[in-house]
Amino acid sequence: MDWATSDLTDRNLYKLLVNTVLPRPIALVTTVDGNGNVNAAPFSFFNIFSHAPPLVVLGIEGREPAEAPLKDTMRNIRTTGSFVVNLVDRALVEAMTICAIDLPSGIDELAAAGLTSAPSRQVAAPRIAPSPVQLECRETVSLSLGTRHRNLVVGEIVHLHIRDGLVDSNFHVDIDALDLVGRLHGADWYVTTRDRFQVPRQSYDTWRAQQQAVRANKDEGEP
Ligand SMILES: Cc1cc2nc3c(=O)[nH]c(=O)nc-3n(C[C@H](O)[C@H](O)[C@H](O)COP(=O)(O)O)c2cc1C
Repeated sequence: MDWATSDLTDRNLYKLLVNTVLPRPIALVTTVDGNGNVNAAPFSFFNIFSHAPPLVVLGIEGREPAEAPLKDTMRNIRTTGSFVVNLVDRALVEAMTICAIDLPSGIDELAAAGLTSAPSRQVAAPRIAPSPVQLECRETVSLSLGTRHRNLVVGEIVHLHIRDGLVDSNFHVDIDALDLVGRLHGADWYVTTRDRFQVPRQSYDTWRAQQQAVRANKDEGEP
C-alpha cells in the first residue's frame, strides 16, 4: 500500500508514522516557567542530532484551545531558552506516564509522579534525580512548523550527567545497567534495550574479499 501524505487525515498519518518509525527514545523534559515553577513532560519525537556540536531535537505539538496553543514545555523553553532532557529507564516508565497527564497548572508534576529533582549546573530547570542520563540544554533555535503550533526545538547540550558507576575510564557506558526504554506502537507500548544482537560493520576490502570467495565457490561448483 502507498499514500500521498496529502491524501491522509492528520489522525491516520500520525498512526502510520508513529507505528512504523520505532522504537523512539524518550526525553522526559524538565523546564521552569518565569516564576521558577517546574514542569516535566515526555517527548518521543526526540533524538540527538549531532555530537559536534552536541545537539538534540524535540518535536512539540500544539494544543487546543486557540488562546493557549503551546504546551507548557514549549512555553517555558520560549521564556527561559533552556531545558533538561532526562532519559527514561525501565524503573522510570510509570512515573514518566504520570508526567504526561494534562494536570491543572499549579500541580507539581514531579511531586505527583513521586520524582525527586537535583539542581542543574548551567540551566535553570532541575534534573530528575533518578534518571540515569540528564542533558542540560540551551535552545539553539525553534521552528514553528505547520498550521497547528507544532514546534521543532533544536537544543545544544551544555552539560552532561551520567549516573556514577555507568561509565568506565575509557568512556565505555554500561548499557545493561543503563536499562533505557523506547516508545513502541500504539499509545501505551514500550520496548527495553535488553534484546540485542551485533552485526559487525565491514571495510570495503573485507566485503570485496568475501564477494570474491563467494564467486570462486560458485565457479568451482559449476560444471
Ligand atoms: C511516551 C510519550 C511520548 C510523548 N511524545 C510526545 C511528543 O513527542 N510530542 C508531543 O507534543 N507530545 C508528546 N507526548 C504527550 C505530552 O507528554 C503531553 O501532551 C504532556 O501533557 C505535555 O505536557 P506539558 O504541557 O507540560 O508540556 C508524549 C507522551 C508520552 C506518554
